[in-house]
Amino acid sequence: MRDTAAPAAIAPALLAWYDQHARALPWRVPPQSRDRPDPYRVWLSEVMLQQTTVAAAGGYFQRFMTRWPDIRALAAAEDSAVMAEWAGLGYYARARNLLKCARIVAARGGFPRNRTALQELPGIGPYTAAAIAAIAFDHPETVVDGNVERVMARLFAVTDPLPGAKPTLTAHAATLTPAERPGDYAQAVMDLGATICTPRRPACGICPIAPACAARAQGIAGELPRKSPKPAKPVRLGLAYVVQRSDGAVLLEARPTRGLLGGMLGWPCSDWSDDPAPAPPLDATWHRLEAEVRHTFTHFHLRLRPMLARVETTAAPTRGGFVPLQDFDPTALPTLMRKVWTLAEADLAALP
Ligand code: ADE
Repeated sequence: MRDTAAPAAIAPALLAWYDQHARALPWRVPPQSRDRPDPYRVWLSEVMLQQTTVAAAGGYFQRFMTRWPDIRALAAAEDSAVMAEWAGLGYYARARNLLKCARIVAARGGFPRNRTALQELPGIGPYTAAAIAAIAFDHPETVVDGNVERVMARLFAVTDPLPGAKPTLTAHAATLTPAERPGDYAQAVMDLGATICTPRRPACGICPIAPACAARAQGIAGELPRKSPKPAKPVRLGLAYVVQRSDGAVLLEARPTRGLLGGMLGWPCSDWSDDPAPAPPLDATWHRLEAEVRHTFTHFHLRLRPMLARVETTAAPTRGGFVPLQDFDPTALPTLMRKVWTLAEADLAALP
């Protein structure tokens, strides 16, 4: 029998495991298939998966593929349609870059095939460039996401905490990338991390590379990777103005493209800060809702207080525009703004 503890045995062991246990994912070509995956599907899925779980991304991926089945279709889409379809996935710069990238790639007639050229495209960083080059084009690139970091931290018993240990983990990962089937190998490591080498209680008993795992040998697999404590997030406050006209229309405003929820539709807001200055979008009798919406962004927690008003059809807002009720689709709003609507809707209807 082959020595499964030797580094050279790891890729073959993972590929053999992947051949049996690959997850069936909507963007994936199964390992038995002779087809190469469509680079458009690989790119779209990897951009969605940058900050989102496989479970959350699945439905979005299917809706995008139905509506825009190829890069040319997406390149021709209206910005607002793409932003509305992305609503709820978060990190909206991804959607703006997705469109920019689609337009460049459609104009040049397809995706570049190597990592360096891929990384020059909007929204494609080192991770995504390596993932597309490996998965779509079978280039021997090393793909390192959170799952792969965890697998490497355990396999090599790296006890230094993340994020400082990242370069070490990437270097370890690179030593294992095979010349044969690097695309399947990249997905195999990710699947191992997602299904067996899980953050808590890894299933080492069924792991195909357990004999090579240094952390398992030391009995510390479940403790790795260590993480440096994160600084506490500050709390910011804000006001969200929810206005309904007597004909049912609601006042929405497109947020500036730079900044939080950039380019997304939402309720006009005050600034979000320690001490927000009121900034009502029109003169009205405002009703302050007692409840508030809580939402966490990358760098802070937000408490957003809805301010409600009903106005006549003659009301002239200083910003935003009224959207007729039949055209108002709360699912096209980012999650924060959808939460505001959920909280405010009944009280708004009950206002005189
Ligand atoms: N996470 C991100 N991309 C993935 C992929 N291609 N397969 C499995 N998990 C992933």
